[in-house]
Amino acid sequence: MNKNKYVSKTKAISRRTALKLGAVTSVWIPTEVFAQPPNRMRPQPGDQLVYGDGDFVGDLIDPTSIILNQQPFPALARDPDSLLKRDGSRLNRLMITRIDQKKLSERHKENAAEGIVAFSAICTHTGCDITNWDAEKLAMACPCHESMFDIYNGGTVIGGPAPRPLAMLPLNISKGVLTVAASFRGRVGFTQQF
Ligand code: FES
Repeated sequence: MNKNKYVSKTKAISRRTALKLGAVTSVWIPTEVFAQPPNRMRPQPGDQLVYGDGDFVGDLIDPTSIILNQQPFPALARDPDSLLKRDGSRLNRLMITRIDQKKLSERHKENAAEGIVAFSAICTHTGCDITNWDAEKLAMACPCHESMFDIYNGGTVIGGPAPRPLAMLPLNISKGVLTVAASFRGRVGFTQQF
């Protein structure tokens, strides 16, 4: 009898202790505490593409104005509802142009919208902005250490020290507006060099 009482008291204490512990460990923390500010978030499916530089920065890009094989130019994604540009991280910078869809490698065709392609502007070597264009090779070129990226083949490295391809952002055209179809294919940013 005594023994049973002892057992039931022990159980009661354990339950109380567990309840106390539970009270301590289950403190509710709003998820917003961990959420990234929207302008730092990577381009989201459904975002619209706007000019990322120059006189028309923030204006919608008209897909029909992009010429075949023109030098890629800076673009950014923006939320279609709030019109907030995702310009809070340089890892969100994009370069876009139009290529000949028939010559685009089969594997990457689905990432293009009527031949328009978008790549991360950040070199995978040490993170410079890729601003140059080799019109003969139809390749994006980094001004820092001359890495070159084949945009007809998913941003594959075709020269220089860059260790991996550029991340490609799948696009769509919806009611004449250039939009993001899915999140980046490939890793954005660079690998620390030692
Ligand atoms: S940072 Fe682009 S080649 Fe080095």
